[in-house]
Amino acid sequence: MITLLALSGSLRLGSSNTVLLEAAALLAPAGMRIAAYDGIGSLPHFNPDLDGDNPPRSVMALRHLVGAADGLIISCPEYARGIPGSFKNALDWLVGSSEFPGKPIALFNASPRASDAQAALRLVLTTMSARIVEEASITLPLLATRMDAAGMAGNVEIAASVTAALAAFARAIETFAQAEPGGSG
Ligand SMILES: Cc1cc2nc3c(=O)[nH]c(=O)nc-3n(C[C@H](O)[C@H](O)[C@H](O)COP(=O)(O)O)c2cc1C
Repeated sequence: MITLLALSGSLRLGSSNTVLLEAAALLAPAGMRIAAYDGIGSLPHFNPDLDGDNPPRSVMALRHLVGAADGLIISCPEYARGIPGSFKNALDWLVGSSEFPGKPIALFNASPRASDAQAALRLVLTTMSARIVEEASITLPLLATRMDAAGMAGNVEIAASVTAALAAFARAIETFAQAEPGGSG
C-alpha cells in the first residue's frame, strides 16, 4: 500500500487547491491511500527557539505524518506572487526535521497563472532536499470552476490528468524504494 499525505496551501473553505486534493483522494487507484493533512492553520509561528528537544505537539504530529507517508502531494495557491505565509510556515517547521529530506513530492497546481509561487515552491522544496517528481506534477485551470471534489473526479479531462499523475507518482515511489530498500516510509 502506498500512503500519501496531501497538503493544501490554502486555508480557505472551498479552496480549489483543497478540492483538487480531495478529488485526487477519490481517484486514488487500488493500492494507494491519500490522507489529507488539515492542521496547517493550527501550527504555531515557526520559531527556532521552540524547535528543540520538545517541539510543539502539533509540529510533532505533522512530522510523524510526513515520516509515515511514502510521498506528499502539495497543491498551493499564489499570494502576492509567492507562497502563502501559512504554508511557508508549515514548510519551515519541516526544514530541520529528519522526516522530510528525500521525501517524494507531487506538485499539483490549480491555477496556470500561479507560476511565481510554483517557482518559489520548487526552490524551497529543493533546498529542503525533497524529491519533486516532475511526471507526477500537474497544473490544471480550476480557478473559477467552483467544482466540488466529486465534480472534479467526474470530469473526464481532470480525472485523466490526476489519474496519470498518481500512476506516475506511484511508479516513482516504487523506483525510489527499490533503489533504497527500507528507505521509504
Ligand atoms: C491575498 C491574495 C493574493 C493573491 N495574489 C495572487 C497572485 O499574486 N497571483 C495569482 O495568480 N493569484 C493571486 N491570488 C489569487 C489566488 O491565487 C486564487 O484566488 C486561488 O484560487 C486561491 O486558491 P484557493 O482557491 O485554493 O484558495 C491572490 C489571492 C489572495 C487572497
